[in-house]
Amino acid sequence: MNTGRGIIWCVAMGPGSEEYLTPLARKVLGEVTRFIGDRRFAPLLPPGTSLEDLPSLSDLQHRLEELGDGDDVALLVSGDTGYFSLASSLARYFGERVRWIPGISSLQILAARLRRDWASVPTVSLHGRPLSEDLPPGEVVFLLGEALAVPAQIDEIAGSLGSHCQAVLGWDLGLSTERLFEGTLGGLASLEPAGRLALLWVTGR
Ligand SMILES: C[S@@+](CC[C@H](N)C(=O)[O-])C[C@H]1O[C@@H](n2cnc3c(N)ncnc32)[C@H](O)[C@@H]1O
Repeated sequence: MNTGRGIIWCVAMGPGSEEYLTPLARKVLGEVTRFIGDRRFAPLLPPGTSLEDLPSLSDLQHRLEELGDGDDVALLVSGDTGYFSLASSLARYFGERVRWIPGISSLQILAARLRRDWASVPTVSLHGRPLSEDLPPGEVVFLLGEALAVPAQIDEIAGSLGSHCQAVLGWDLGLSTERLFEGTLGGLASLEPAGRLALLWVTGR
């Protein structure tokens, strides 16, 4: 385990819009001078700060080790720290040097749009991972990949669960470009990408 002294703040930024950034996240961002994360979060940082691009996980661990004895650093993560976030890998690797600031996850936003409880719905991640043959029964939420890959991923899910299954596809949830589509998996697989990031909730099987 890494024992450097600077604190690594994993700050959950929600979807990347002002409305969903918590006051505590804003406070931590105001107290830190080093920032690493995706460019889309730059407008939410205090004026005049510079943002280092997010490298691969192994390069990120190396970079954070280099910064070990120096200033605190804010690692900007999307949604919430506890929902399929690289915050978990960093906590395993750096232990108590890491502090988590929670945020609003993409699943919470989609659940709010649908007026649905999300606590008992399992999530399967296809973000950089293949579709497993062993899917949970009942309703399932899928984290999908890059925009252009989404129709093929939904097609694959349709092949596994049945193209008649009902689902809701949410693009860019919590952003001004948000779009929601409801239909069968077969129908949703035929749509063009309508944003950058997408979440699929299979509501009926
Ligand atoms: C590595 S996971 C991170 C999830 C994040 N920690 C959260 O709480 O939402 C990335 C995937 O989450 C989904 N996602 C994240 N933000 C989204 C958004 N604003 N709208 C739709 N899907 C989103 C996409 O499927 C994306 O590929």
